[in-house]
Amino acid sequence: MQQRVLTIVLLIAIGLSGSLLVAALSVWRLPDNQQGYAPEQPIAYSHRLHAGDLQIDCKFCHSAAESGRFAGIPAAEVCMKCHRYVTAPYDQTLQELKLADKEGRSPKTIISPELKKLYESLALDEQLKPIPGGKPKPIEWVRVHNLPDYACFNHQAHVSVGVKCQQCHGPVESMERLAQFSTLSMGWCVNCHRDAARNGVNGRPVQASTDCSVCHH
Ligand code: HEC
Ligand code: HEC
Ligand code: HEC
Ligand code: HEC
Ligand code: HEC
Repeated sequence: MQQRVLTIVLLIAIGLSGSLLVAALSVWRLPDNQQGYAPEQPIAYSHRLHAGDLQIDCKFCHSAAESGRFAGIPAAEVCMKCHRYVTAPYDQTLQELKLADKEGRSPKTIISPELKKLYESLALDEQLKPIPGGKPKPIEWVRVHNLPDYACFNHQAHVSVGVKCQQCHGPVESMERLAQFSTLSMGWCVNCHRDAARNGVNGRPVQASTDCSVCHH
């Protein structure tokens, strides 16, 4: 009798761990299933606002895409080229300027909460003055795209022959929060290489190879 109870308990335990394993496997997704992945970022940075409305060129921030393997994520100093002066949305700043003018005082610096995080990362206070003893620390952006290590991708090879960022990354200039647009699967790479070898890019012939060693070395 006792043995039967034990068997049942064991069976339940095995069933439970099995379903836990299934749950774990469905959370652990392969890179090629990451289409649409859009993790929350430490600062609510918007490509729609910057690359869309403000029309800042992609390469202003991702300058390495033209000359290197990685496109790179800009350092906070790149943001500061504008945010040394732009500390809050335009309409809020304008309101404060008008109010200060009416009240005959000098305008206060208003800082939006998201931009405050940018300044904190550079150890700057509300007046954008260095915080005594403060140490700058890099913003920990969450990586969106993750190819497995055994596949080699190189931005320069693509950008230099005129493949547009949007062909692989989609309409980034309309994304409030950045999302992975393509599957990044091997089939996706190889299909485009086959097509490009046949039809060229922008009417010019290219050498897009489908040899295994091009992407796996
Ligand atoms: C003002 C600076 C700036 C501009 C302009 C900009 N980006 Fe970005 N980009 C960032 C920052 C910061 C991140 C990291 C945070 C994020 O993922 O949103 C990023 C992330 C990305 C990523 C995801 C990287 C990853 O983690 O895998 C892609 C792809 C990207 N940008 C493409 C573009 C394209 C295409 C354009 C032009 C249409 C563009 N960016 C314009 C600043 C910029
Ligand atoms: C042919 C497709 C393709 C084109 C064109 C392309 N990318 Fe990418 N991009 C990728 C892939 C694939 C990855 C993931 C690479 C990895 O995980 O190693 C990536 C990763 C990124 C990243 C994050 C990792 C890194 O390299 O720093 C950024 C940022 C980025 N791309 C921006 C851009 C911008 C900006 C352009 C245009 C100037 C561009 N990409 C053009 C396919 C492309
Ligand atoms: C070329 C100039 C420029 C650069 C470079 C730039 N920004 Fe901006 N950013 C602006 C302007 C202008 C606004 C305000 C737009 C408005 O008023 O609607 C803004 C708004 C913002 C806001 C929204 C503030 C709010 O509360 O609404 C955030 C967050 C932000 N930027 C973060 C960043 C980060 C992070 C970087 C660097 C990766 C960056 N910006 C680089 C010009 C720039
Ligand atoms: C939108 C089309 C497109 C996609 C998608 C694409 N590629 Fe390419 N790729 C090209 C073209 C076009 C070239 C040829 C450039 C030339 O002629 O120099 C190329 C060249 C390359 C090269 C350089 C070959 C050399 O001889 O130096 C590598 C490596 C590469 N691609 C890897 C990848 C990987 C890995 C992926 C997927 C993650 C990918 N590509 C996705 C169009 C694409
Ligand atoms: C244009 C680039 C490219 C070429 C050419 C290419 N691969 Fe891949 N391969 C990839 C990428 C990117 C991945 C990772 C994709 C993923 O995670 O789904 C991959 C994944 C793989 C995998 C891992 C299993 C899988 O399907 O996820 C194997 C095995 C593989 N490739 C073998 C080959 C062989 C053999 C060739 C030559 C016949 C080849 N590859 C040619 C880009 C390429």
